[in-house]
Amino acid sequence: MSRAFFLFFVVFSFVKGWAQDPSILYLTWKDDPTTTMTVMWHTVGDPVSNTVYYKPLQEDGWKQKTASSVKIEQSNVQVHQVELTELKADSEYTFHLGGEKKYKFRTLPQFLNKPVKVAVGGDIFLSKELYEKMNREVASHDPDFAILGGDIAYTEGLRNALRSPQWRVDRWEEFFRIWTRDMVTKEGRMIPLMPIIGSHDIREGFDNPFKNQVLFYEMFAFPKKGIPYQAMRVGLDICFYLLDTGNSRPIAGAQTEWLKQAFKDNKRAIWQIPVYHDAAYPSETAFNSRTARNIRKFWSPIFEENGVFASMENGNHTFKRTYPIKEGKVNPKGVYYLGDGCWGVPPLKPERHWYLDKSARTSCFWLITIDPTKCLYEAFDNEGRALDRLEASR
Ligand SMILES: [Fe+2]
Repeated sequence: MSRAFFLFFVVFSFVKGWAQDPSILYLTWKDDPTTTMTVMWHTVGDPVSNTVYYKPLQEDGWKQKTASSVKIEQSNVQVHQVELTELKADSEYTFHLGGEKKYKFRTLPQFLNKPVKVAVGGDIFLSKELYEKMNREVASHDPDFAILGGDIAYTEGLRNALRSPQWRVDRWEEFFRIWTRDMVTKEGRMIPLMPIIGSHDIREGFDNPFKNQVLFYEMFAFPKKGIPYQAMRVGLDICFYLLDTGNSRPIAGAQTEWLKQAFKDNKRAIWQIPVYHDAAYPSETAFNSRTARNIRKFWSPIFEENGVFASMENGNHTFKRTYPIKEGKVNPKGVYYLGDGCWGVPPLKPERHWYLDKSARTSCFWLITIDPTKCLYEAFDNEGRALDRLEASR
């Protein structure tokens, strides 16, 4: 009898847990990262619950908020999104979805009373094995959050042109299932992500990319729907510029005008850090590609004028550090271009371009550690070996 009851209990808990604790659950921001958190999760079919229950970790009294849901066309996947607001800065919260499992996150600090640590890397889920290996390495550094520099799930591109819509959805789902499992710190804190669009995240073409379904925009949250570029201000002292190198929005024109204004609006931030997919100073792709020329023509002068120390680039599947560059020439007062997008892809052999101070055929991501007096840029490979280290002081 007791054995039967036990079995019933096990089956019941499993079904209940399975129904309410989704295998895809991730955090991101579409507003102030010191006072908000956007929780997203996926379910197949109708969800049992659509509510997030949350509270500061050390306090009593759960609050709740209901998510909005979007069904992905031609699939049974529902993407749920809820933005928790009026949170306290630099504070730990716990939340659940009505199931057994409790999750944990931390808001970012207003002031740099302790360092902020950000993992930056692109070209992520091409090889499952390499993706998982780098995830473990990144999570072991305990970053506050990660910026994904494009080519996230590799759902698009010439090789995948004939794949079915279901294949694309399944691939995003696999990316997120692995992310959900891996990107948790030793203390059980979930690591939020900020997405950047890359060439393999959107249907290629010279006409309107929005005429096809663009899953990228369904999978993440943005301040303005359909606009992937944004300034991410972290408290008083840090501002990231997450840009689209012409993959769904052109470099010149509206985005460049917006970027000039965004630098003006955030000029009081001490640390200004652009991040984007394709490189102005590539290590593997052509120096004179249209995209590289356009970034150098339209954005590099803005970086130089605004005292950017280093600009974070991806899309080349290598490690690189350029010499500091100003007005197209090596200049100690110039901008470093660091990259080059090799989170979970087989590394490629870099070219010998004149502007490359260092480069290597290796996996890599960059860890940026920011405090009031200095900003440290460190590169690591997926074995935890240090590849590079440079420091900006105030
Ligand atoms: Fe790539």
